[in-house]
Amino acid sequence: MSFSVPNDFDPRWHRELPELACAASAVSLIMPYAEPYVAKSVRAAVPHLEEHPELHEQAKQFVREELAHHVSHRAFNDVLCEHHPGLRPIERIMRRTYGWLEGRSARFNLAFAAGFETVAYNAARWVDKKMGTLFPRRGNYDQHAADLFLWHLAEEVEHKTVAFDAYRTLHEGERGSRRTYAAAMMLSAMLLALFTILGTLRLFWDHGRLFRPVAHWRMLTWTLGFTFDLFPAMAVSCTKSHHPSKLVDPSFYELWLRDHRAEPPLAA
Ligand SMILES: [Fe+2]
Ligand SMILES: [Fe+2]
Repeated sequence: MSFSVPNDFDPRWHRELPELACAASAVSLIMPYAEPYVAKSVRAAVPHLEEHPELHEQAKQFVREELAHHVSHRAFNDVLCEHHPGLRPIERIMRRTYGWLEGRSARFNLAFAAGFETVAYNAARWVDKKMGTLFPRRGNYDQHAADLFLWHLAEEVEHKTVAFDAYRTLHEGERGSRRTYAAAMMLSAMLLALFTILGTLRLFWDHGRLFRPVAHWRMLTWTLGFTFDLFPAMAVSCTKSHHPSKLVDPSFYELWLRDHRAEPPLAA
């Protein structure tokens, strides 16, 4: 699947929750830098997974999916940045940051990918829990933008085990492997948080919401709610007995993919 962005796309795409449009757009801004890094990290592991045919295939599919995500986010971000050129300097910082990370060891990079996926999966669970508020049926938001984010989250749920399995398969039992995973996951979460805050504040400024208390109140409640879900899940994912397959997936995304994969891609 891929998504295109209408030429007349309005960056204030969520009329009921303008802060959600800002925060989600800020997350989108990160994807063309973080996801190629994650995809490259898993792709580097692919030749070492040939003895595990199922995981080998899953890893190749994972790389294709992550690259498709970032291409669609790139198209979305290009339109976004045309309206908000002030986001470009933040993009440059992200390009440098994730580019620098690519030079780390293969083990660290794969741990980062596995940790990034843990965060992404928990983001999908949190959005599912808040679906009625964030994306209510017949809500006043742009369906193209909502579909981009829901599609991405659905595939994060679908491939939640792959990077984790690749890391465990290649590095489980090595000295400090779980510490590397924990550190890389924490770094991935911190970078996501930092760049989301920077992008959101820039969009708040452009949209005239920087000095609106309600905007910050909503962001605070969403951030705290997500953090209370995420931190315990991150801690559990570091334990020896953890496997992502033990987590119960929200059924919404599977149904969403079933509906949308049967249709041609959304046109501009
Ligand atoms: Fe992705
Ligand atoms: Fe992913």
